[in-house]
Amino acid sequence: MSQKQRYTITAALPYTNGPVHIGHLAGVYIPADIFTRYQKAKGNDAIYICGSDEHGVPITIRAKKEGVTPQQVVDKYNVIIKKSFEDFGIAFDNYSRTSLPLHHQTAADFFKKLYEDGKFIEQTTQQLYDEQEQQFLADRFVTGTCPKCGYEHAYGDQCEKCGSSLSPMELINPVSTISGNKPVVKETKHWYLPLDQYEPWLREWILEGHKQDWKPNVLGQVKSWLDDGLRPRAVTRDLDWGVPVPVEGAEGKVLYVWFDAPIGYISSTKEWSEKTGKDWQPYWKDEDTKLIHFIGKDNIVFHTIIFPAMLKAHGDYILPENVPANEFLNLEGDKISTSRNWAVWLHEYLEEFPGKQDVLRYVLTANAPETKDNDFTWKDFQIRNNSELVGNLGNFINRVMVLTKKYYDSIIPQPETMTKTDEEVLAQIKIYPEKIGKLIERYRFREALSEYMNLARLGNKYLADEEPWKQVKTNPERVKSIMFVANQIAAALAVLSEVFLPFTAQKLKDMLQLPNELTWDDVAQKDILLPAGHQLGEPQLLFEKIDDDTVAKQVQKLLDTKKQNELDNKAVDPQKDEISFDDFMKMDIRTATILEAEKMPKAKKLLVLKVDTGIDQRTIVSGIAEHFKPEDIIGKKVLVLVNLKPRKLRGVESQGMILMTENAEGKLVFVNPDEAVPNGMSIS
Ligand code: MF3
Ligand code: ZN
Repeated sequence: MSQKQRYTITAALPYTNGPVHIGHLAGVYIPADIFTRYQKAKGNDAIYICGSDEHGVPITIRAKKEGVTPQQVVDKYNVIIKKSFEDFGIAFDNYSRTSLPLHHQTAADFFKKLYEDGKFIEQTTQQLYDEQEQQFLADRFVTGTCPKCGYEHAYGDQCEKCGSSLSPMELINPVSTISGNKPVVKETKHWYLPLDQYEPWLREWILEGHKQDWKPNVLGQVKSWLDDGLRPRAVTRDLDWGVPVPVEGAEGKVLYVWFDAPIGYISSTKEWSEKTGKDWQPYWKDEDTKLIHFIGKDNIVFHTIIFPAMLKAHGDYILPENVPANEFLNLEGDKISTSRNWAVWLHEYLEEFPGKQDVLRYVLTANAPETKDNDFTWKDFQIRNNSELVGNLGNFINRVMVLTKKYYDSIIPQPETMTKTDEEVLAQIKIYPEKIGKLIERYRFREALSEYMNLARLGNKYLADEEPWKQVKTNPERVKSIMFVANQIAAALAVLSEVFLPFTAQKLKDMLQLPNELTWDDVAQKDILLPAGHQLGEPQLLFEKIDDDTVAKQVQKLLDTKKQNELDNKAVDPQKDEISFDDFMKMDIRTATILEAEKMPKAKKLLVLKVDTGIDQRTIVSGIAEHFKPEDIIGKKVLVLVNLKPRKLRGVESQGMILMTENAEGKLVFVNPDEAVPNGMSIS
């Protein structure tokens, strides 16, 4: 046996300003979960650490919007997020929160050590300030035009268009996102981590030391940051939500969220240690420990440059062994967005697909954005479920279970002789643990899963070639061997499924009555996993088909979201110049009914209407022929401006104007008074 390797595996702490969606799972939490489950299955000493990232400007903004405190926001979403992870079998060893006293203490101590060791630069500079709100405008509290690409809605910390990292003072035409005011500049003191001093070391450590084992997308970003030149970076902010800066003269200041959040990995490990009684320190201080950060691509700079520089400056801690960042998952061709509600939310998925966590886990792994952005579509979800999970894995297991029950009362038969094919298949099984494991160790989870499915395919092919259902009549002895071998494949599938599909693994274990002590390495080493005479449990279906209607419903839900967004975004005309009450009273607007309508000959746009205004019946020529058929508007109750000076259109005198507006699609619609209002009533 090889020696136990210690792993500290972290997944980015999610911001606690909204629920989690499929992008989170696919990018970070599933890959890290598979990795940890695998290391544990191999007998390694691995812990999976995460928690809620509860500070930062987006949380304060959300609180302001909802009219509650930041604490209320994080309390609410922490519960929702934590539950989603549990529901999907994301098996954290600890899930903490950065608002806990333990974290505040840990982050404050970390800062203090760097402060006392003289690792910071103290600098007083001009910063943007919102006079009305009496607040400095850090990060997302300010927007403006990006100085690099000209995008007009860049934030104070980052331009989401070109990805540049910015500081508020660089923005052109800055505007406060709290009040909409133009900020003024005001002096304030902050502490900076002089990243520039770490540049040569970072170059050597990453670009030399890790050029072989880090992912190309990660190395690429690191290189471009380093080539751009690193600058000192402020690690404190003038805000009231966060970890207070623990030094004198820093009243009203907190640690920058990206300073405190990664320290959250350490505090979460400490919390785990308090709960389990195990020592946390080897997991962060022992050079033999492998520290692995699973993150999304927007977090790369923080985990490869800033946090490592912090750890290096501190001196007591190990550095990450790898930072396997994923790209982004899109949804039906569009970027996933919390604010636009363009997402498949995990808690909603579970309501609509109860018990189908593994289907989503499967699809998100098979289609993970490992090397490039990828697209989640409901069609692909359906196809993968129906043809791969039902058609391949589920089908094989079901055949084995049902046939063993039918022929042998669910007791694995004793084979008389083995053919060459049987021996070959048994030998093949043993190759899979290593094949799959190697891929997982290289963070290639898609391929790892696909190899796993190849084992099920091998099983299906074996049964299809050997046809036990035919041979049972002519050569029953032979069928004993076939079913014996098929059961070994099923057992291997059960053991190996645990890292990818934990719910399915549990079902398989129950069905096969698998002994608990069978391990990943047993599959590679043992000739027989389930002996002859072993009693199987009851067959149950692992997966079921997802039909077209179900998928159509999900697609429709997204179309509705899109429509709603268009409505919300529809530009509204600016307010017109002020008028007096008398001006308003000059307009005589009445309720009326359209009595007749016909097309104006040779005029595409005009309808000639006869309208009952309550005062009289009169003719109005209206430019609505492209929007309404005459027969559809007869009898409609409308509002008419009756004292508009008459004018002739194509020789017909129009005596008033019907009030109209536009719907979301830009189609004209009437402004309808209540049907019960009689004609001729004044509007005022
Ligand atoms: N909250 C951040 C995000 O969702 C990630 C923080 S990772 C940590 O993008 F390292 F800071 F914890
Ligand atoms: Zn830009």
